[in-house]
Amino acid sequence: MMMRVLFICVVSCLLVVNDGSIINRCTLARILYQEDLDGFEGYSLPHWLCLAFVESKFNISKVTENADGTFDYGIFQINSRYWCNDYQSHSENFCRLDCEELLNPNLIPSIHCAKMIVSGSGGMKNWVDWRLHCLGRPLSYWLTGCRLV
Ligand SMILES: *[C@@H]1O[C@H](CO)[C@@H](O)[C@H](O)[C@H]1NC(C)=O
Repeated sequence: MMMRVLFICVVSCLLVVNDGSIINRCTLARILYQEDLDGFEGYSLPHWLCLAFVESKFNISKVTENADGTFDYGIFQINSRYWCNDYQSHSENFCRLDCEELLNPNLIPSIHCAKMIVSGSGGMKNWVDWRLHCLGRPLSYWLTGCRLV
């Protein structure tokens, strides 16, 4: 019986450890900092972390289907209608990317595309959940315990 419980724990614990799609908060902070997002278009690093959290819970490989048949991809849940090509529906593809690239663990395509979105009109308001959960709130705790360099 003990062995059985232990075995189940070992298997499930390994599954959690092996789910590489969730990025650690401080690791993400460091990457975003290196890619010059701190202050980009006036949005401090905690805003980017809050955005990533409310959109994907830091799940790099998250894909969500929307009611209109489009999909949201990756850590910033970038939408296929305007920003990337998923070869399933018409897309403006403003970021000139395959949507699959927005699931890339190195995050560079997602960061590149997010910079483009935030540079346009509305800035981060393009993300409804950012407006609802991050805008106007105290956010500095997102960096608690993180070393950026
Ligand atoms: C991350 O997102 C993918 C795709 O949406 C999903 O299959 C996976 O279960 C998610 N991971 C976690 C830990 O929620």
